[in-house]
Amino acid sequence: MNTAQFVPKILSEVIEKASFTWQTPSNIALVKYWGKSNPQIPKNASISFTLNNCHTITTIEFLKTEKLLVANFDLFFEGKRKEEFKPKIAEFFKRVQEYCPYIFEYKMTIHSENSFPHSSGIASSASGLSAIARCLMSLEQELNPALSEDFINKKASFLARLGSGSASRSIEGPLVVWGKHPEIAGSSDLFGVQFPYEVHSIFENYQDAILLVDKGEKQVSSTVGHQLMHNHPYAESRFQQANENLSKLSKILQNGAIKDFINLVESEALTLHAMMLTSSPYFILMKPNTLEIINKIWTYRQEHNSNICFTLDAGANVHVLYPASEKDPVNRFIDNELSKYCQKKQYICDTVGFGAKKL
Ligand code: PMV
Repeated sequence: MNTAQFVPKILSEVIEKASFTWQTPSNIALVKYWGKSNPQIPKNASISFTLNNCHTITTIEFLKTEKLLVANFDLFFEGKRKEEFKPKIAEFFKRVQEYCPYIFEYKMTIHSENSFPHSSGIASSASGLSAIARCLMSLEQELNPALSEDFINKKASFLARLGSGSASRSIEGPLVVWGKHPEIAGSSDLFGVQFPYEVHSIFENYQDAILLVDKGEKQVSSTVGHQLMHNHPYAESRFQQANENLSKLSKILQNGAIKDFINLVESEALTLHAMMLTSSPYFILMKPNTLEIINKIWTYRQEHNSNICFTLDAGANVHVLYPASEKDPVNRFIDNELSKYCQKKQYICDTVGFGAKKL
């Protein structure tokens, strides 16, 4: 694998002081990534919708200092110092040191905030780590102005991946593939790439309402969940199935076969959770209200000949997916019939978005 391309060779400029602010989104996988090998190499290819409203905004101030052995940074989350978030970021800086040696010449101050409520059960690692990666790439671009936009996006995704696998899919949009797949031109295990084919108009401006069923801390983290795929009896067939599902979904996205989309996306969500149910030790992240909502969605779909469907992340929250043309009736349905299954009736209306934005 060609990781050498991401080791900087020329840094022609000297920058004493700089500050960059990036807004990067969360994403929701349609074909799921669950299982990896070192260093953050996925066992199968995955694809996600980039979101628009659920995002992180991060500013990093860089101040030149003498050469350091470990990254030196202060971290503020929503205006307050957050010591408990620091180890994860420190680990991230360690993982990227070969690719971003210049960070050890700066004192960094990081300010970060999320658009979605903290501990809403929405993974903030994808948006959070992609935002830091994008800020690092802004510094690298100033140190080497010859870098192309394409390379910068690729390397930002490459760095984000080293922090959290799914973060590699949070740099661009509206659909991003991560993981080498024979039918997706340019795809790689090292970084996410934009879905390279023309997408049917039915998937434009697709809607995602995130129903906040459980906002508590997950009982089993994604890190542990991925590890449990190592000795999992169904692992190999799952990885094969996911790659086949990506082949199928690639065609569906191009030809607009929405019923096939629904079938595949819901099956992927339930299969992800089936892997959890059949891990050793087994665990359940869905809650009773997750199942209530799924059943209501199925009934509504049948009774109204709707194209609503659901997907799940590694948690109890439900992502309700629907075409923009069904926005009004489905939003009414969510408000009238599904919000009662959410904690404090809370849900977030989001749409598919286009990736990282410099502010
Ligand atoms: O990026 P991680 O290591 O937190 O793993 C996330 C995996 C899922 O969100 C469950 C699926 C996916 O493809 O995003």
